[in-house]
Amino acid sequence: MDAQWSEWLGLIARWVHVIAAIMWVGNSMLFNWLDRNLRDSGEGGPAKFGETWLLHSGGFYRVEKFRAQASTLPPLLHWFKWQSYTTWISGVALLILVYFSGRGAYLLNPLNPRLGYADGVALAVAVIAGGWLVYDLLWRMPARNARAQGFISLVLLVLAVWFMHDQFSGRGAYLMTGALLGTLMAGNVFFHIIPSQKQMVAAIEAGQDQDLALADRAKQRSIHNNYMTFPVIFTMISNHFGGLYGHPLNWLILLVLVFASAAIRHFMNIRFTWKPWLAACGATTAAAVIALIAIYALGGRASAAARLAPDPVADAQPVTFDHVWSIVQNRCLSCHSEHPTDPVFAAATGGVHFDHPSQLKAYADRVKIRTVIQQTMPLANKTGITPQERRLLGRWVDAGAPLD
Ligand code: HEC
Repeated sequence: MDAQWSEWLGLIARWVHVIAAIMWVGNSMLFNWLDRNLRDSGEGGPAKFGETWLLHSGGFYRVEKFRAQASTLPPLLHWFKWQSYTTWISGVALLILVYFSGRGAYLLNPLNPRLGYADGVALAVAVIAGGWLVYDLLWRMPARNARAQGFISLVLLVLAVWFMHDQFSGRGAYLMTGALLGTLMAGNVFFHIIPSQKQMVAAIEAGQDQDLALADRAKQRSIHNNYMTFPVIFTMISNHFGGLYGHPLNWLILLVLVFASAAIRHFMNIRFTWKPWLAACGATTAAAVIALIAIYALGGRASAAARLAPDPVADAQPVTFDHVWSIVQNRCLSCHSEHPTDPVFAAATGGVHFDHPSQLKAYADRVKIRTVIQQTMPLANKTGITPQERRLLGRWVDAGAPLD
């Protein structure tokens, strides 16, 4: 697809995705908050769960919750489902536009040539669909032991994250983790929450007794979704943080952030009835920071930069700017130019151009980070830069990026 077109489509899909996700997650937060803050007023009969007053935008709102509804339905009943479906559909559109197009440059790992383009896309789809099936089957099991089911789910999540990092690029694996969790969330709405609610409404219309198990099933999946919100939002924004997904232990970093943020979500959920919640959030954050420091200490030794084999003969040679410039011409300019030749990524380089030596010098630090330390540039190593060339660029930056 033409670079300009794909950029515009990407913008529209991303914009819609973020707006829908804000609405969906915002509702998840609000309804969870309500469940914890509604108080029994002693009126309204046994079906009444509780009520509360809210003050917002200059008005007083009274909210009451009923577990079961009396024999008639209210004339106007609002459902919440399109925010969830829109988030998922726009997310799939983005996945295709950004990660499945351009021959999978963001999805695939150039250091993993076993996984080609078609297989990579097929594997990504299989992980998402298979992930949903396994998760759903596990929680449909009649043996209602939520602790064991929860534990198995988390172990499977760890395995899935590790597997995806083994197969895809770091950036691709982070995003795929988000796509997987987002699909579980949307699947919960589509296959459980909404159908349960439909059955509840149908029972009321038919004048039958309501099956409270339906409400419990919807609530259980809704709580799963609530725990997934913080981790999914992290993966949505993770593509801006090359240092995380480009780290040699990227999968561990991701797991620390997923578990810590889900725990914080939990403490925030129970904060109204559990006094030490803030201390617990602090302790979780401290534990995550310690884990991350350990990961960075460990990962330093295994870093991508360290994998560049030292070459004493070449390293003894002085770096000339002419040599650096010819590397940049050959390996970077197809994308990073006012007049790019790469048909796919040229429009998306964020205005980083290397047409003039001063532009290269201005980005020298980032050039070293992206090309030498993380090795996330050239993108998907599309231009075939060699390890020697990476080392040379790094030495040039270390020498103060001289232009002569
Ligand atoms: C196939 C296209 C392509 C090639 C070739 C390429 N880049 Fe990039 N580059 C991109 C895209 C797309 C982005 C923006 C997305 C991102 O940051 O990952 C980018 C962003 C950057 C950034 C800015 C982001 C930041 O982290 O500050 C730098 C610096 C960069 N590239 C350096 C290089 C260098 C140096 C080379 C050559 C050794 C190179 N790139 C080759 C596509 C490319």
